[in-house]
Amino acid sequence: MNALDILKAQHRKVAALFAELDGAASFSARRGKLWELADALVVHAAIEENNFYPSVMMKATGPLLRDALAGHAEIKRVVIELLELEPDDATFEAKASLLRDEVQHHIEEEESELFPRVERLFTEEALAAIGEAMEVTQATLWRDHGRGRGRAAVVNGADNPAPRRLTSALLRLRRA
Ligand SMILES: [Fe+2]
Repeated sequence: MNALDILKAQHRKVAALFAELDGAASFSARRGKLWELADALVVHAAIEENNFYPSVMMKATGPLLRDALAGHAEIKRVVIELLELEPDDATFEAKASLLRDEVQHHIEEEESELFPRVERLFTEEALAAIGEAMEVTQATLWRDHGRGRGRAAVVNGADNPAPRRLTSALLRLRRA
């Protein structure tokens, strides 16, 4: 699958999870949705950082990629802060809405600037090869950290229970 199509599908999935988080009424539903959202963001950032950005790094894309990486760092910071809160914490809503704004900004920047530029600079074959490498990374992440969830389910955006160990690993890193 074309790298850009994979990333755009993940952007849609993340946007849908934000809407579901908004609609989740109970404490446990909000907690579960937040884990699911955190894992989707962690996987998305990982395949962009490990495969996509290095593959499309060149003079014409460098400044956009540096901005994107700074955005990822900020998104991860807010994700970690949110996961450390209880959903009924007074600051939960404000932080969740900060995260939504940051992710929205990430999506807009990539889809309006970076992706069209990459589309002009790379052939369809190159984008398909990058997409394949991304799918391998994704499958490995979910296999090693996601309770054995298969690559197909991840790539197709099927509804998966959150692979909490991924995000837990992120939290442990931060505490180390
Ligand atoms: Fe992205």
